[in-house]
Amino acid sequence: MTRETWATRTGFILAAAGSAVGLGNIWRFPWMTAENGGSAFLAVYLLVILGVGVPGLLGEFVIGRRSGRNPVGALRDLSGSRYWGIVGAVSALTGVALLSFYSVVGGWILRYLLVSVVGPVTGGAPYLAAPGPYFDRVSFGAEAALFHLGFLAVTGGIVLGGVRRGIELGTKVMVPAVLVLLLGMAGWVVTEPGAAAGYEFFLEFDLTTLRANAASVLAPAAGQALFTLSVGAGTMVTYASYIGEDRSLPFDGSVIALLNTGVGVLAGLVVFPLLFSQGIDPGTGGPGALFVGIAGAFAALPGGDLLAIVFFGVVTLAALSSSISMLEIPVAVLVDEGGWSRRRAVGVLLALIALTGTATAFVPTLFDFVAGMLADLLLTGGLLAFLLFAGWVLGPDAIEEYVTGAGSVATRFATPWLFAIGVIIPVFLVFTLLTTAGVDARIGVWPTVAAAVALVALALVGLARGATWRGTRR
Ligand code: PHE
Repeated sequence: MTRETWATRTGFILAAAGSAVGLGNIWRFPWMTAENGGSAFLAVYLLVILGVGVPGLLGEFVIGRRSGRNPVGALRDLSGSRYWGIVGAVSALTGVALLSFYSVVGGWILRYLLVSVVGPVTGGAPYLAAPGPYFDRVSFGAEAALFHLGFLAVTGGIVLGGVRRGIELGTKVMVPAVLVLLLGMAGWVVTEPGAAAGYEFFLEFDLTTLRANAASVLAPAAGQALFTLSVGAGTMVTYASYIGEDRSLPFDGSVIALLNTGVGVLAGLVVFPLLFSQGIDPGTGGPGALFVGIAGAFAALPGGDLLAIVFFGVVTLAALSSSISMLEIPVAVLVDEGGWSRRRAVGVLLALIALTGTATAFVPTLFDFVAGMLADLLLTGGLLAFLLFAGWVLGPDAIEEYVTGAGSVATRFATPWLFAIGVIIPVFLVFTLLTTAGVDARIGVWPTVAAAVALVALALVGLARGATWRGTRR
């Protein structure tokens, strides 16, 4: 059977942007920000998106389009080594791990949407009366597991439709809808009295806090930046492997990153002014931050029940356009490598994630671990592997793939890009990996310094190697 491709270039861009835009922008971002020093976190996060996320995205694109395969087949075929295939297999596991908590949150959203819709008939959505206790009651346990299954089923249904009729068609509807509705909401929120304090909180740039916290926010901010762009999981390798024509990868990647950051900012412009207009402190933290805070705001606002329907509708669409991209990674592996039918792959994976997701839906500490540290570790480690692969195994071939279809401006950046993904960014990722794992805190300062020195030495070796890359530029 021939492998499917995207029907159009816009289809690819929307699918990848749909993957990027998701709960990461709307739910995980305020949670992580509240937990890690507010505006300091925001500043580091934006820097990492630009300096690591975008070049990393291009690294995954290059691997995917050049191989035309899933992460396992891509790394194996391009390197000619089975061992790289094993590295690629981690991506399939990452997809399963991510979806195991993502669809639990998706289930929460689905539930809030449903009760918002039936609310007016049943005398008001139940979360409006007491947002905090309501979230505590429904967030974990049997009902959470049930809604998780519902969200997972919808995700599976879309992926079952395949690349064109499922993912491409779905995201072509979902992504523009999210954009338009968010814009509308942001415009509406401007008219709320008290919204100004929210804009201030969100947009103020606080250099002192940043200086004081830079080291401790680095790793979580980096993890969140990778999460929001969907890099490190192999999603972007997989999606790029369905590109049928040679268009500019740097251009497409920039559009995707811009769309994602734009939606993130838009969501902030909706959420924070809403909270402040109702005098709610966004810094409560925890995975419930969004649900408790925003539900409280809806309760107090005139027309809040209607706004709630639109809001949770938007978040549901954004979440689905991302969850399908998580499921597509292991599906592509099983279909390409195992020769499975799409139907069988989706079925088996849904059964598996139904189980793992039910576990996180019942055990809050497991949920926190998978959604926080494990996600950060898998994405950071995954991206590190992809970039070392592109930089050191593909080398000149990566440049060739990067410039294929690219314009003159992007082409000028080809060699610096390869140097960045082969040397500088890996050094940065190793550092954040160590901090995420808490290694620096446990082993003390000097071993950490020694490790840093070793990394710089590696970077210098890389520099020498970079000189040969420069010679290969087309
Ligand atoms: N970027 C998605 C979001 O922000 C999450 C995601 C991560 C999707 C990794 C796919 C792979 O919600």
